[in-house]
Amino acid sequence: MLKFSKCFTINLLNEIREVFIMDKDLHAIFKEKFATEATGEYFAPGRINLIGEHTDYNGGHVFPASITIGTYGLAKKRQDDRVRLYSENFPNKGVIEFSINDLEFRKEDDWTNYPKGMMKFLKADGYPIETGLDVVFYGTIPNGSGLSSSASIELLTGVILNDLFSLNVKMIDLVEIGKRVENKFIGVNSGIMDQFAIGMGKKDHAILLDTNTLEYDLVPAEFGEYVVAIMNTNKRRELADSKYNERRSECEKALSLLQTKLAIHSLGDLDEATFMANTEVIGDATLIKRAKHAVLENQRTLQAKDALVAGDLATFGQLLNASHASLRDDYEVTGIELDTLVAAAQAQEGVLGARMTGAGFGGCAIALVKDSQWDTFVNNVKQAYVDKIGYGTDIYKASIDDGARKLK
Ligand code: GLA
Repeated sequence: MLKFSKCFTINLLNEIREVFIMDKDLHAIFKEKFATEATGEYFAPGRINLIGEHTDYNGGHVFPASITIGTYGLAKKRQDDRVRLYSENFPNKGVIEFSINDLEFRKEDDWTNYPKGMMKFLKADGYPIETGLDVVFYGTIPNGSGLSSSASIELLTGVILNDLFSLNVKMIDLVEIGKRVENKFIGVNSGIMDQFAIGMGKKDHAILLDTNTLEYDLVPAEFGEYVVAIMNTNKRRELADSKYNERRSECEKALSLLQTKLAIHSLGDLDEATFMANTEVIGDATLIKRAKHAVLENQRTLQAKDALVAGDLATFGQLLNASHASLRDDYEVTGIELDTLVAAAQAQEGVLGARMTGAGFGGCAIALVKDSQWDTFVNNVKQAYVDKIGYGTDIYKASIDDGARKLK
């Protein structure tokens, strides 16, 4: 029986308030909403990215991992065409209903556009989804925290549909369909990192993914006496409204200018020396900074993987710090909240490195912290953050778990 006992504090719109204090019985909720019993329980994680930020749409490498917080789903197939979806995270939206034969994006359908997009694109690819279904969703990822709650809902929906309708879709295909939903249905020009990490994640491993080829290595996430902290700025990161798409097109512009001289397919093809020798082709100072981040971050990601494999955590930590500096100064996607949090973390004893994770503009940061210093670290960072920003941060230890799956 899926039951949760959790207490989160989420600070929305700079306002501190307790949003969830819960003891969930999702089966009881399913029965109350749909007057029937769910036939399956499913889960899709969220993700952190250790390093390799804003490289996935530039043909570079990323190094994410799927985490224990994520989205739960209970589901049952229906005999008619109705799709009825309810999220315990948005109770005041109630049950949102539409037909499996009418899968257009509708603003008023709110969060259900993510599952709807998965249904639409799976059907478009020829997978037989002939009837509707009832689903209760419940996410333990703070919304807008940059830990990929939307990709988690997409992959969860994919796993549910695959199971209920015996579609036999490969996980990698669900990953690509999830990305297509973001790009073509929701309208965010994101790369493949989030869906890949959530679909292909493995307990206690990080994934070094080459976004050019989709080749990947599962690397044991062994941090010895250190743990990965997740620190939430509690500043919502609205991806569609943010400068995400703008950054992407700046990189595309820089690439097409470089291509007038160099035979490259993506910024990920460049090493630092070749890039630095050719910046005059780009000309524009802002575009040079954006492309510089993409090229150097890709190099750092490969170095970080080698450092982790070699157990050289000090080097790994320095690469995290360098990544944040580049995202702050060259890519300009951090902001006062992330910078304050990361600087506070970096200043603590026992911290090897810290950086923002995900798209930026708010959301979460990570830090590599000595476990024996944990309590002091948390107290000090919380204090420094509230002193400067005026509201709190939430800090917890990341734990890396398997990707999207049926629970039972
Ligand atoms: C978001 C996108 C990803 C990736 C990151 C930045 O999470 O969904 O594809 O681009 O931002 O690294």
